[in-house]
Amino acid sequence: MARPSLKFLTLESTCDETAAAIVTDDLQVLASVVASQEKLHRQYNGVVPEIAARAHLERVLPVIDETLRRAGLTWEAIDCVAVAHTPGLVGSLLVGVSAAKTIAFVFDKPLVAVNHLHGHIYACRLASGMEVFPCVGLVVSGGHTHLYRCAAPSDFELLGGTIDDAAGEAFDKVATMLGLPFPGGPAISRISNDGDPNAYSFPRSFLKDADRLEFSFSGLKTAVRYAITGPGKKDVQAVKLSSQQVADLAASFQEAVVDCLVAKTKAALKVTNLKTLCVGGGVAANPRLRSRLASMAESLGVTWHIAPVELCTDNAVMGAIAVEQFRAGALAPLELDVRPGLVRN
Ligand code: KG4
Ligand code: ZN
Repeated sequence: MARPSLKFLTLESTCDETAAAIVTDDLQVLASVVASQEKLHRQYNGVVPEIAARAHLERVLPVIDETLRRAGLTWEAIDCVAVAHTPGLVGSLLVGVSAAKTIAFVFDKPLVAVNHLHGHIYACRLASGMEVFPCVGLVVSGGHTHLYRCAAPSDFELLGGTIDDAAGEAFDKVATMLGLPFPGGPAISRISNDGDPNAYSFPRSFLKDADRLEFSFSGLKTAVRYAITGPGKKDVQAVKLSSQQVADLAASFQEAVVDCLVAKTKAALKVTNLKTLCVGGGVAANPRLRSRLASMAESLGVTWHIAPVELCTDNAVMGAIAVEQFRAGALAPLELDVRPGLVRN
């Protein structure tokens, strides 16, 4: 008789989504719940850390309850608890980590600490049902833009990343300049469909420096500001743009970001000589980026995986990477602490 699969409760609270999932050690998803805080942060055009932490606190137990209910499981039926403990907002991380440690202690279950960024790549493994390692991993999210050499689920080497804003952060800030709602990525990608990507000639950092596996989006952001206001004028909100101008600015900005992401990912594939590409993170939901990466990978003869749209933005299903860590015996102690800062791997 086949052995019953092990059930992992995975928790995610690194930024502004409170999420829980039940995944099995054969990578079946039994339930997944995501409570988004978008509405709470919209009026500030960005995530307010204190508001995010309080909202996590209110939601974490109802979200776990609902996840167990959907999976038809009791607390005792869980075999392992996993939680994203790095990187993210300190107050947000603390809520998930405290909840996970408490569950592990009270029910005497093993605890696994997950790197949120590695989880974004693992979403490709889970969704494809295929072995994806070794691969080049591109994580494009609100807080990070990282290129990795992923030798194995437990062996990620950072090849390069952004030296200033993350891609998603640039989308969010440019959307605010254009009077579009938070989060800016979906709004910009929608409105770009009506715009001309060549209407404005925006900078593409380090593109000529082919070997440099880094990104910079802060100059691009400033270029968009000047395109709106003209040099010298400070208040972007005071400028009235036509809807066509907004669409052209959005499309031209998006194209510049996509050009950089595609070029540097291509360079990473060449440098590493790896034949598989995995892409995850909120910005990976962008249709233009998805199709450009697909064409690039196909032109190189590389197998590519992009997380399905629902697994691009933050969720707990991607915490399934804990299954690999559990198998390797990499358990976390009950003294587990959060690691908010930028991780170098
Ligand atoms: O991975 P994620 O949910 O959270 C972090 O870990 O940061 O990513 C959120 C980011 C936001 O900046 C949001 O604007 C961006 O992903 N995003 C998009 C799209 N959907 C979400 N950016 C571009 N195009 C999209 N369709
Ligand atoms: Zn994320």
